[in-house]
Amino acid sequence: MNRPFLAKIVRKIRFLGASALVNLSQARWRLKQSGISSKAVVDKTCRIEKHSGCNLQIHAGCKIHSGVQVQLKQGGSIELQSQVIVRRNCHVEAWGGALRMGRNSGLNLGCYVVAMEEITIGENVMIGPYVVIVDHDHGTENSGVPMVLQKMKTAPVTIRDDVWIGAHVTIAKGVQIGRGAIVGANAVVTHDVPEYCIAAGVPAKVIGLRQPPRQTDPAV
Ligand SMILES: CC(C)(COP(=O)(O)OP(=O)(O)OC[C@H]1O[C@@H](n2cnc3c(N)ncnc32)[C@H](O)[C@@H]1OP(=O)(O)O)[C@@H](O)C(=O)NCCC(=O)NCCS
Repeated sequence: MNRPFLAKIVRKIRFLGASALVNLSQARWRLKQSGISSKAVVDKTCRIEKHSGCNLQIHAGCKIHSGVQVQLKQGGSIELQSQVIVRRNCHVEAWGGALRMGRNSGLNLGCYVVAMEEITIGENVMIGPYVVIVDHDHGTENSGVPMVLQKMKTAPVTIRDDVWIGAHVTIAKGVQIGRGAIVGANAVVTHDVPEYCIAAGVPAKVIGLRQPPRQTDPAV
């Protein structure tokens, strides 16, 4: 191989290396701007729509699976702390409200979570498939005005640490679910569920109690 040809190849390799580095740092910069940690895995089929003035934080170790839609508008904010998993086809939305999911919590397939005021989900919370969590209802007071035009009624929803929500549950506005509680499949939760209780049915009622942790338990 002659010398000029070799030099040309070396120049080409240097150029490709440099542009790959530039692309990598640009990608990192873009991720930082978007609020998504470079150590989070977001499937390429996810749709993230973040309007100006909104705040999105997806921390390291989070996994956002295929077909998930994340939407933030009207100053809404979403924070997914480390190791949160959002499985296929979930809709996670903040329309002017704040949604926070604590470390190691997860949404199973097809969940619909929309915050207009505040939805707080603690750590180690398991949320089964097709669960609906909303902190608002349509206004219905004035029957002379179409409901779609009436002001929304909102109240915060809080789900404490170590809760298990079964499949197809709906959690309505203003509800608090206590630490260590279980909500059975298909329940509609309209009132608070005390800690370490098992609630089920429509509307959800306490059907059982769990043994609260003893001081000697390792995680207490
Ligand atoms: C709530 C749940 C955990 C209770 O399990 P359990 O403690 O073993 O309770 P049991 O099966 O002994 O049922 C106790 C009573 O509650 C009733 N019950 C249980 N789950 C119920 C539910 N989801 N809705 C209404 N009633 C329910 C039972 O019929 C039984 O009533 P009975 O005493 O009159 O016969 C379980 O039934 C459940 O719903 N699991 C969720 C499963 C799921 O959605 N998995 C998705 C993947 S995360």
